[in-house]
Amino acid sequence: MASVTQAVAQRYSCRDFIPDKVPDEALLREILTKASRASSDGNTQPWRMYVLSGAAKDAVVDAVQKSNLREAVSEYHNYPDQKASSHIVYDDAELTKKTNERMQHFRKTIYSQRRKVCGEMLYKSINVAKEDLPGKLQQLQKNGSFFNAPVGIIVTLDRMFDRCGWGNVGMYLATFALLCEEAGLSTCFQGYFGVNHAAVEKVITQMDPETEVIWCGIAVGYANQEHPINSWRTERAKIDEYAHFISKL
Ligand SMILES: Cc1cc2nc3c(=O)[nH]c(=O)nc-3n(C[C@H](O)[C@H](O)[C@H](O)COP(=O)(O)O)c2cc1C
Repeated sequence: MASVTQAVAQRYSCRDFIPDKVPDEALLREILTKASRASSDGNTQPWRMYVLSGAAKDAVVDAVQKSNLREAVSEYHNYPDQKASSHIVYDDAELTKKTNERMQHFRKTIYSQRRKVCGEMLYKSINVAKEDLPGKLQQLQKNGSFFNAPVGIIVTLDRMFDRCGWGNVGMYLATFALLCEEAGLSTCFQGYFGVNHAAVEKVITQMDPETEVIWCGIAVGYANQEHPINSWRTERAKIDEYAHFISKL
């Protein structure tokens, strides 16, 4: 069994799965149940999980892939002052210019630099050149298939919650990913499904978009270890860049 330290160290965003190696529902139930021990403000437990497999997952994949990416707009900003729809428009000079203007401040930050390095490493692993915009778009759209994962989860929470509630769901998600790791399952969180929420909402009739907002999707399954996209790992800032040990002010 993986220790917590091992699970944290091993976890990475898996972007290609073995499609026909399907995790048991009993195992997923066990992991979801265990993850619910995550802390939440006042024990509110605001997370909701739509665990999709088989025809239900296929229907969501189909709806997302048929939807017009240009019209897809997230209900919230993934990055400061950016309309989430804009980052997918790689071949439209006018929209790209507008995005650049909105992102001007963010682009000067260390956060933007880290995001850039992450993108460069991802595309390098699959031999997509910096200027190959169709190649990048093709990779982006693979999100819509949950990267071939046999299980896709849509994570929502009640619209009444503000930032703290969203953070609480994040606590659950981190716990969930580590428990998956312990069980030999890989994951990838996907903001892509927040951007494409309209297509998802049309298909999952059990969900009520009037009262629920999509936080993200999660691809879950067994990693395809042979695929080069799973061969690289992101870097992390050094501890002194974000942690301050204070004993005297
Ligand atoms: C909320 C959230 C949304 C994400 N959305 C996407 C996504 O839509 N597509 C994708 O390929 N990766 C997505 N990621 C994965 C991040 O890019 C990844 O976690 C980050 O680069 C760190 O790499 P690691 O998970 O391999 O350690 C998302 C991660 C989080 C936490």
